[in-house]
Amino acid sequence: MRIAIGSDHAGFPLKQELCAFLVDGGHQVDDLGTIDEERVDYPDFGAAVGRAVASGASELGVCVCGTGIGISMAANKVDGVRAAVVHDVTSARLAKEHNDANVLCLGARLVGPEVAQESLQAFLATSWEGGRHAQRIDKITALEHDQSAP
Ligand code: RB5
Repeated sequence: MRIAIGSDHAGFPLKQELCAFLVDGGHQVDDLGTIDEERVDYPDFGAAVGRAVASGASELGVCVCGTGIGISMAANKVDGVRAAVVHDVTSARLAKEHNDANVLCLGARLVGPEVAQESLQAFLATSWEGGRHAQRIDKITALEHDQSAP
């Protein structure tokens, strides 16, 4: 599978570990940075991963920052992206199964490398269930074009 990955400085060490894990698993990894632990802004990398997935250049994305939260917010601003912050295998599995998430976001300050790897593995191994979830995903997609006042 072709997978885009990005992080800020806080997520950099975990990103490197996850890159190696993905390459070992036979995946094609597009590492969109950052390149070291020098301070950077997480929206730049969340947007880069989001755009890679939304354009179809990558099938799935992985984002890492300190909490996974900021970078997920940025990725989710890109139309077509459904980025989910997960903290364990169950949330990673359900993010795909129910929400058809296409970007997995992890917090390097909150989860250790083992939980991160297991969560990523679960995300990759799970398929979207479709069925009753389809109209909910359609409603999320419709919000991308919703310019009406609340
Ligand atoms: C960087 O210090 C930190 O704010 C960032 O990695 C992330 O946790 C933001 O959501």
